Amino acid sequence: MLPTNDPVHSGRGALVIIPTYDEVDNIELIIGRLLAAVPDAHVLVVDDASPDGTGDLVERMAAADDRVHVEHRTGKLGLGAAYVFGFGWGLQRGYEFLVEMDADGSHPPERLPAMLARVAAQAPDAPALAIGSRWVPGGSVVNWPVSRQILSRGGNTYARIVLGLSLKDVTAGFRAYRAETVRAMDLSGIDSKGYCFQVDMTLRVLDQGRRVVEVPIEFRERERGESKMSQAIVVEAMVRVTQWGVARRLAALRGARRR
Ligand code: GDD
Ligand code: MN
Repeated sequence: MLPTNDPVHSGRGALVIIPTYDEVDNIELIIGRLLAAVPDAHVLVVDDASPDGTGDLVERMAAADDRVHVEHRTGKLGLGAAYVFGFGWGLQRGYEFLVEMDADGSHPPERLPAMLARVAAQAPDAPALAIGSRWVPGGSVVNWPVSRQILSRGGNTYARIVLGLSLKDVTAGFRAYRAETVRAMDLSGIDSKGYCFQVDMTLRVLDQGRRVVEVPIEFRERERGESKMSQAIVVEAMVRVTQWGVARRLAALRGARRR
């Protein structure tokens, strides 16, 4: 059961970035659900020249609805690169909140108002990032193969230990950021291609001294199309997380010696 007493947010000032590669059977449904849940939000689909025609379909949707936008890239350049492009697009246009969401229906847009409410709070210590989390109380996964659950739980435990984090779902791909926090990052310095991009972004928020919170979500395995998860993505994540962990410990040691 998800908590129902969360504050809500209509999505005003929010850009929801959806990276797509071959999501023609999912994209229309998810944009419809999203705009029903957060009617004031805008959507940017970043399509990597999907052979199945996802980009053309979103072009038609964009022609019919001012809130919907699409940008096409030349080929499959990775999830991280698609988001870096989308963040740049949103920052140029002055959105106040930048949201990451998958196209395949795994992330419930109905939870976005609660996530946006957290980052929109006026308190001085309000979080700069709200993560839609599978692994906090109230969160869950539905129909996800046991192999993927083990990979996600294992990856999160490893990242938590190596990076010294207390977050439970640091690889999650459903997120709401305050745009000013993303603006303060050197986006051109991000070269995480696959899903480790999510860990990378989390560290960049924490390194600004900003708070990150987790909002429970129900993550549902896609019913149509295929996951783009690959061995290369897992290997990249393991190597990167280990490198970041070592670098952070060395930096902490150096800091301690100077004191
Ligand atoms: N533009 C673009 N380019 N989009 C991509 C690419 C790419 O190279 N690779 C994947 N995507 C898009 C997909 O079309 C989908 O909308 C979204 O990124 C997520 O891809 P999936 O393939 O559905 O990911 P998943 O279900 O295996 O993985 C989920 O769990 C990961 C681990 O927790 C996602 O939520 C990931 O974001 C998350 O890191
Ligand atoms: Mn998926």
